[in-house]
Amino acid sequence: MNKVKKGVISCLLMGLLLCQLPAAEPEGDRLKDLAEPLGLFIGFSAPTNFYSMSDTIVYQEVAASEFNIVTPENAMKLDAICPTQNNYNFGPSDRLVQFARAHGMQVHGHTLIWYSAQPNWLVNIHSRDQLLSAMNNVIDVILGHFAGQILLWDVVNEAFNENGSYRSNFWLNVIGEDYIDHAFQYCRQADPAVKLIYNDYNIAEINQKSDGVYNMIESMIFRGIPIDGIGFQMHITDAGIDYQNFADNMARFAALGLEIYITEMDVRIPIIYTESDLNNQAEIYRQVIERCVDQPACKAIQFWGIPDKYSWITSVFPESGFPLLFDDDYNAKPAYYAVQQALACAGSVSTPVPRKLGDVNGDDTINIIDALLTAQFYVGLNPDGFIASRADVNCDGNIDILDALLIARHFVGLIDSFSYEH
Ligand code: XIL
Repeated sequence: MNKVKKGVISCLLMGLLLCQLPAAEPEGDRLKDLAEPLGLFIGFSAPTNFYSMSDTIVYQEVAASEFNIVTPENAMKLDAICPTQNNYNFGPSDRLVQFARAHGMQVHGHTLIWYSAQPNWLVNIHSRDQLLSAMNNVIDVILGHFAGQILLWDVVNEAFNENGSYRSNFWLNVIGEDYIDHAFQYCRQADPAVKLIYNDYNIAEINQKSDGVYNMIESMIFRGIPIDGIGFQMHITDAGIDYQNFADNMARFAALGLEIYITEMDVRIPIIYTESDLNNQAEIYRQVIERCVDQPACKAIQFWGIPDKYSWITSVFPESGFPLLFDDDYNAKPAYYAVQQALACAGSVSTPVPRKLGDVNGDDTINIIDALLTAQFYVGLNPDGFIASRADVNCDGNIDILDALLIARHFVGLIDSFSYEH
């Protein structure tokens, strides 16, 4: 009996008004189980009150089963964590760090130096020396508090304009352009072990803005300023992006020796959407994930939330919404299955019998039954216990007779690996 049926029955038996159904577990493999062998982090951002939301049980269950890294959506921003001078509110972030540890997840610290979500006491400092010393102090306290518990910090967030110039903010205006160098240096001094990232939006492709960021980081490296990686936020629309351009852009940042993190991905669609919008959204996710897994420097894919209903998108873009992998009831959307398949297919070139591809009935062997089940599915039968996301063994986006044949050939020992054979 599946978990949902069990949940319904126990809810009925208990006769409780306030009983919470577990989410229907998506078919196939959990995302983190597919990402881990690729050395990839797969993650989500969590609301500050994630532990007290009315549906926190199901939220936590999905979070823990699917993901291996978490970013606090707002709890570590400076206005939240240091609302007045020398007064720190670590409670909600500590709670998230605890949750992450309990479930073997990494934590992505987000974010220190930004134009937004900064407390008034900082914004009201008008002397360069005093502001640098305040910056140094908050960084010391915050990185000190979380030392050993956080994998990477977004040290500076969104510091560029679309034309590649520095964005005006009080840090720039009071300190000058070297505020960024100082932020990274203070972080390295405060916690030499944590990775230091520059994070921004609209920089996943080669354009004026990403050129500006590239030039800045190249110069930082040349001058010995510590920086370990770049975060591409990737809040993108249903027009998608130019994927080759994205791959080329990753390649140039990778050539600087940087790690690349997709830090805040969501793909917004019209607020009134059709099935084809959901499929288009899925395709955009697939393309981005495929490019990331093809680039060794790309270390993480992090989504900006779990179910659509908690996404920030509609509050900022009122005509758009539904940008994530799970619907409001935590059902996996086509986007989820596209990510799952892109991850499952990722190792099929290098790994003989990549993970579970081909084992379509989930019995841990790849044999003639799997080939038969796949052929049945192809002719329009829906066999029992058939895990569709493992059946497209040549990773061409279709489940067809070629897949059934490849599985059969593998079974009789003719091929070791499915290797994108068409
Ligand atoms: C957003 C949060 O999702 C919202 O809840 C909040 O009201 C505003 O900030 N880039 C970032 C994130 O770096 O911190 C932003 O998060 C989204 C854009």
